[in-house]
Amino acid sequence: MAKGEYIVSLDIGTSKVRAIIGELNGNSINVIGVGSAEGEGIRHGAIVDIDQTVQSIREAVDHAERMVGIHIASAYVGISGNHIELQSSHGVVAVSSQDREIGEEDIDRVLQQARVVALKPEREIIDVVAKEYIVDGLRGIMDPRGMLGVRLEVDAYLITGSRTAIHNVVRCVERAGIEVANLVLLPMAASTVALSADERKLGVALVDVGAGATSVTVFEHGVMVGTSIIPMGGDYVTHDIAIGLRTQTATAEQVKIRHGCASVDAASDAERFQIPRIGSHQEVEYTQYDLATIIEPRMQEIFSLVRKEIEKMGYLHDLPSGYVLHGGVMSMQAAGELAAAELQAPVRVAVPEFLGVRDPSFVNGVGIISHALRSQVRITQLETVTTSRPVKTGGGVFARFKDWLRDFI
Ligand SMILES: Nc1ncnc2c1ncn2[C@@H]1O[C@H](COP(=O)(O)OP(=O)(O)OP(=O)(O)O)[C@@H](O)[C@H]1O
Ligand SMILES: [Mg+2]
Repeated sequence: MAKGEYIVSLDIGTSKVRAIIGELNGNSINVIGVGSAEGEGIRHGAIVDIDQTVQSIREAVDHAERMVGIHIASAYVGISGNHIELQSSHGVVAVSSQDREIGEEDIDRVLQQARVVALKPEREIIDVVAKEYIVDGLRGIMDPRGMLGVRLEVDAYLITGSRTAIHNVVRCVERAGIEVANLVLLPMAASTVALSADERKLGVALVDVGAGATSVTVFEHGVMVGTSIIPMGGDYVTHDIAIGLRTQTATAEQVKIRHGCASVDAASDAERFQIPRIGSHQEVEYTQYDLATIIEPRMQEIFSLVRKEIEKMGYLHDLPSGYVLHGGVMSMQAAGELAAAELQAPVRVAVPEFLGVRDPSFVNGVGIISHALRSQVRITQLETVTTSRPVKTGGGVFARFKDWLRDFI
């Protein structure tokens, strides 16, 4: 595989592990390969069985490799979970150049400064996100490159995660024979394909309704300001259907995907299907309406929990761009409408624009590629601007990842 020609992403989800191959085309990408496998070793988005997860990763990667006919050596890997925390931080440096013009190297140094905080031993820094820069006391600067000054400060957020959770992800990917090019926080990745710059500036909630968990992330003034996980998703809906229709989980999942409708009002009486009942050979007939009476209350509960989470974050009345939803569950008929009714705000379902992945469950995987591409472009720029590479500090699993220091776009 020619280096730099392809970017591969891995989204290790509760229901599926997805590998996506993106081909670089100047400063943009084309999705050329997709592979997925059932995610057997994951519960609520966290790895609970390493061997099963390794196998799922290998299977997903094999699929994608076969589709494109290349060998995948390394991948950018998404990370999320309730162990993620944001922590405010501050950095200060003196501008280094003689003419006092602020360059990439100063920005790097100030962000590195912002990482120097006392962390609990079980925490690991995943990323540093600049909230604003301050040049000689002047606040509110988003991009200080080219400005004149002697003192450069940054107000930043550190994104930290549990050392064990991060270690487990890295270990699984490596045991599947793939080198981890970098870890990417999933909501950050998803935001690069799901949100416009305007939405991020004005205030928006990005919500990923997956199989085992629903993640809620708020962006304001262009940066992520809070993220949180609700341990409930599409698996609960499937479980409700299995109980309500007294059938196997696998049948319930199939029926949900084929006939599911999130809203009783939108469901049809004419759409009928038959399913085997547990413990008998008899088939029982139901309508989409019957199914919706089971699905609607659970979906309402998920969205009401999302609303509560936003309220806890203090943004309930402060989201001019409303909610942007993605994740497999948002493929369900009338899911967007139900969300809008429950959240009482503008709602949009995000779908990647590439052929083969036009589905809300691919936003994360495509987002990882697009996020990685942005950091790569930035690094290439950096390499041409600076002659001396900044010195890396700290140990831990992240010390090996070459671009994590600058991965703050
Ligand atoms: N057409 C559909 N209608 C209804 N539900 C669907 C449809 N397609 C997928 N789903 C549901 O979406 C969920 C999977 O979504 P997704 O692939 O985003 O989750 P994941 O990434 O595997 O899990 P998580 O993010 O929670 O770790 C499953 O519960 C699945 O049943
Ligand atoms: Mg997911």
